[in-house]
Amino acid sequence: MPENPAAPRGTQDILPPESEDWNELEGRIHALARRFGYGEIRTPAFESTELFVRGVGETTDIVEKEMYTFKDKGGRSLTLRPEWTAAVVRAALEHHLLTQGPLRLYYIGPIFRYERPQRGRYRQSHQFGVECFGYAGPEADLEVISMAWELVRGYEVSDAALNINSIGDETCRPRYRDALLAHFRPYLSTLSEDSRRRLERNPLRLLDSKDPADRPYIESAPTFESMLCDACKEHFETLKSYLELAKIPYVVNPRIVRGLDYYGRTVFEITSSLLGAQSALCGGGRYDGLVRELGGPDVPAVGFALGMERFLMILRALGDRAQPRRGLQAIALGTQARVALAPLIAELRRKLDVPTYADYEERKLLAHLKIADRNRARYALILGSQELAAGELLLRDLETRSDRRLPFDSARVLIDTLVEAGI
Ligand code: HAM
Repeated sequence: MPENPAAPRGTQDILPPESEDWNELEGRIHALARRFGYGEIRTPAFESTELFVRGVGETTDIVEKEMYTFKDKGGRSLTLRPEWTAAVVRAALEHHLLTQGPLRLYYIGPIFRYERPQRGRYRQSHQFGVECFGYAGPEADLEVISMAWELVRGYEVSDAALNINSIGDETCRPRYRDALLAHFRPYLSTLSEDSRRRLERNPLRLLDSKDPADRPYIESAPTFESMLCDACKEHFETLKSYLELAKIPYVVNPRIVRGLDYYGRTVFEITSSLLGAQSALCGGGRYDGLVRELGGPDVPAVGFALGMERFLMILRALGDRAQPRRGLQAIALGTQARVALAPLIAELRRKLDVPTYADYEERKLLAHLKIADRNRARYALILGSQELAAGELLLRDLETRSDRRLPFDSARVLIDTLVEAGI
């Protein structure tokens, strides 16, 4: 027997009924984005490799180790989108969207990163993200943080924590970089291999290291907040006061530096203890230099992305994700009943918002009811020879196990009954 092909490592099939959770979450995201005045953007799943190298940054983990890069048959180097932001900026520039004033976009879709798969970390995962272009002030930071927070709060994720930090701008970053170099250099030989490699190229990334070897030196490192220039300090302080006014609880976490190069000033992450080691549910920040870096005008921007798999993991951990029973299972016992029921099934599927499940095999009632359970149907609509002779249908509520009889020839009565019962 040939072996069954398996999905590639680090990827997942999303199957019913779990796909219902995805649909529900996506529905809420679309509604949220609409309320905040964001329009949906969809970009290709692959882009030129160059875009991500320039956009995300050569010394980042993503570009150094994680991109799915391939040559197409025409010899072009292409990369499966490892994140959306650079692709969204590319599209906004290509379609001249940034010449028309501020722009608010959101997206839902897959990203691809060659990472070591584990709980909450996949090679294909999905993000919901937003990008707000054209505002340099902290009001836009507040706006995007509020969106992420509303989504999380809407699901009553009580242990979610908003961590914010500022990583300065081109005025104060060189100063902080020097301070970090001076701090870490004496410990060079005891730092982890990754950190040793990173120190000269990108010392901020050391603060992000999870390696226990680096921990004591990270804990004693100077914080960026203490070294911000006046303009960055003012931006950060105003954002904090806005968050307080908006009653969004936060902690200033000096270790949040983010793994992508385009950030400046505000960075933030929403974490949840329910996620375990991969605790970041959502990450984002300000990236005022990226549009120019990719050949566009000087347009400030801020955004975030939220990991959908991780969000659904949290919702599942919070429990009560059992699908409520919905719809009805049409059950015909015998050929005659099957023929009689067919037009009614068609009518129910046209008129009801909930599913009408049907099974066309000859089975015992018990077997039919098992199928109804598997479908999580709320009602069974049963037509057997007895009912047929009496011109009736049996409507069984599978939750309360109560039966009622309805006239067979009146689909209207049936539909009204079901609507009335709130199914
Ligand atoms: P990021 O921090 O790389 O930021 O990703 C954002 C979120 O996507 C993470 O917090 C996590 O929930 C989820 N995520 C990332 N990689 C994986 C993975 N391998 N498996 C499961 N979930 C994952 C960005 O991507 C930026 N583009 C966010 C942004 C938008 N900044 C400004 N605008």
